[in-house]
Amino acid sequence: MDVKAGAKRKAGVRAVGRALPHDSAPLHVSGTATYTDDIPEPQGLLHLAVGISGKAHARIRRLDLSAVLAAPGVVAVMTADDIPGENNCGPVVKDDPILAPGLVQYAGQAVFAVAAETVTDARRAAKLALVDYEELEAILDPLQAVARNSFVLPTETIRRGDSRKRIHAAAHKVKGRVRLGGQDQFYLEGQIAMALPREDGDLFVYSSTQHPGEVQHLVAHAIGKSSKDVVVECRRMGGAFGGKESQPALIACIAALMAQKTGRPCKLRLDRDDDMLMTGKRHDFVIDYEAGFDDSGRIDGIEFTFASRCGMSVDLSGAINDRTMFHCDNAYYLGDVTIVSHRCKTHTVSNTAFRGFGGPQGMFGIECVVDDIARHLGMDPLDVRRRNFYGIGERDTTQYLQKVEDNLIHDIVERLERTADYRKRAAAIREFNAGSRILKRGIALTPVKFGISFTATHLNQAGALLHVYTDGTVQLNHGGTEMGQGLFIKVAQVVAEELQIDIDRIKLMASDTSKVPNASATAASSGSDLNGKAAQAAARKIKRRMTRFAAEHFSVTVDDIEFIDNEVRIGGKRIPFAELAKLAWFARTSLSATGFYRTPKINYDRATFSGRPFFYFAYGAAVSEVIIDTRTGEHRLLRVDILHDCGLSLNPAIDRGQIEGGFVQGAGWLTSEELWWNEKGELRTHAPSTYKIPTSSDVPPEFHVTMLESAANREKTIYRSKAVGEPPLMLALSVFHALRDAIHSVDGCVRVPVLQAPATPEAVLNAISLQRGEGGRS
Ligand code: MTE
Ligand code: MOS
Repeated sequence: MDVKAGAKRKAGVRAVGRALPHDSAPLHVSGTATYTDDIPEPQGLLHLAVGISGKAHARIRRLDLSAVLAAPGVVAVMTADDIPGENNCGPVVKDDPILAPGLVQYAGQAVFAVAAETVTDARRAAKLALVDYEELEAILDPLQAVARNSFVLPTETIRRGDSRKRIHAAAHKVKGRVRLGGQDQFYLEGQIAMALPREDGDLFVYSSTQHPGEVQHLVAHAIGKSSKDVVVECRRMGGAFGGKESQPALIACIAALMAQKTGRPCKLRLDRDDDMLMTGKRHDFVIDYEAGFDDSGRIDGIEFTFASRCGMSVDLSGAINDRTMFHCDNAYYLGDVTIVSHRCKTHTVSNTAFRGFGGPQGMFGIECVVDDIARHLGMDPLDVRRRNFYGIGERDTTQYLQKVEDNLIHDIVERLERTADYRKRAAAIREFNAGSRILKRGIALTPVKFGISFTATHLNQAGALLHVYTDGTVQLNHGGTEMGQGLFIKVAQVVAEELQIDIDRIKLMASDTSKVPNASATAASSGSDLNGKAAQAAARKIKRRMTRFAAEHFSVTVDDIEFIDNEVRIGGKRIPFAELAKLAWFARTSLSATGFYRTPKINYDRATFSGRPFFYFAYGAAVSEVIIDTRTGEHRLLRVDILHDCGLSLNPAIDRGQIEGGFVQGAGWLTSEELWWNEKGELRTHAPSTYKIPTSSDVPPEFHVTMLESAANREKTIYRSKAVGEPPLMLALSVFHALRDAIHSVDGCVRVPVLQAPATPEAVLNAISLQRGEGGRS
């Protein structure tokens, strides 16, 4: 039965729901957690470097690698011509060459690889290539791509009702265009793989990846072998954030190909600049919108056109842009809608997953519309937001025709408004602004509703493999990966609870394609939902076998057997769990089991964009307060209040970390992280010197994070918990709207503010001059 752990139990191990520390925390803080680069290097290891394209779009007339090959320490070089299998590392469509086959489509694309005795030798040699390019015209911007019909995938449209008519007939209209920047994942551990040749041409690959199974398949295809010949392992990543969902395949394929070519172990570790130049980021967007609404701010009809920069290949852009279309309602009932989504092909790096997976960009769009409506009507934006929330039992069907059955947004926003003292503070801010010429404050409360499940239905499956040893200890394998988000401890908590054993009896094993096959990427926030259930299934299988054995052995009924607190009660007596394990083994009972889970209820027709793509929704809301300096555009985040829904949290300590970290990462995206390409299509922000991620000093001085209490998931998820990996990122939309609020006050709240994201000091300053009617870029 899926009830809150311990709720009905008087005694016993209580693992689920406890704020246990991350299993690797002592290793993390003592510097002894093993990341891929920390694995002891095998004898004969070669270090690799990649030669990258300096042009955005060009044909390679001649590639002269003789100086590279002659450089000190160099053992081998490799180009597209040396690839025995498929020259592709694209996850969905085969349009992503591992090494450019004569045509380069972005500055930073891998052209050749070099293997040398040391990292320095390899990196120095990689700079010595002579490349003769024939430059071709490059498309560098989504709008340019739309004008030129340059798309990686066909344009998609969702149309419900007659938005044109409704907008036309509405009492009021807003219309606008907003630019929204991308974001580099900036995981602290960069992309890395180490490939070891095994007998008979097989390979063992260590990869820092959210998706070992995909790396296995793509490596196998590249080296001209099959999945059975390749094993991929990942114990942990030093952060991933979506950037290691598809991108690690390129790194692993290069390491694998070179290992195959040289017969020696090969390691490829990108340095930060190359990592940022070579690998994909969050899609940046140009969003056009038009909405019609009534006097109370209620939306009748709305139209969105999304144009996203997908870069030079498809990668995951199909599903990412679909998720944008699914999330441009956020928590609002939109009335009649037309949503157009352009998937633009540009000669820039192929963009990829990043926490929220296109969802944040859609939500950004609707929040701008709602804020515009409020400014247009002179209302408090919170009132307009509330006016448009999905109803309960009415106005509750999304644009993709899924009913919102678990709506918590009214409750959450009502509570947060109270606990954050929103109204009083908003009034105080108005008063402050009236008396302050240079410094202006702003406040905003924004909601989050985020759909949980992979929209590609088939990915919503997971496997686990559990071994119980005769000393009563356990090895736990599942298809998920650990990137710092706490998945492993959560799954271990589930197993501890099920078997009623202490968590330190469970060893968390590295993710390994030979233990659990065909696993999905750990993504879409569904890691603990899926793998928790799979591990639970495996634990229950073993428990059933042990129970059956014990009943027979001790001549009692199965109802007389209870696993409790590291022991098993058998009728009137209790024996240690380990003792029963040993007895069961003597009686030749299997103590090893697989578990499998597939998410129920979901079904969705991609052709019509309708059905139930999401098992359930996760909710939250945030109030942010900011202050800006109107002379410089600089700003500070003063206070943040968050109320977030984790269902019945599997681990409140981990979940709190996810909420805080997600929020700060979202604030970075919307206020300080700026990707800047020059007119030649070269990314010029490729190191922390020019690309500003938030630091600890950007965490607001007042930061109140609360989890919604006793909010059991109405769906039967693992112990009625909810996914938490991505949704909190979008709580940071409140920071952006608090900035808009502050800017709005600059002209005494007359004009509708126009602010582009990221709201860097430059962007804020520009918005201020527009607000003052002084012109500026809109
Ligand atoms: N938290 C940490 N510390 N590091 C990460 O790389 N990735 C995020 C989120 N939280 C990430 C993280 C992303 S993009 C996703 S999809 C989820 O974790 C994946 O893990 P989960 O499904 O187990 O929540
Ligand atoms: Mo997360 S963007 O789904 O890896």
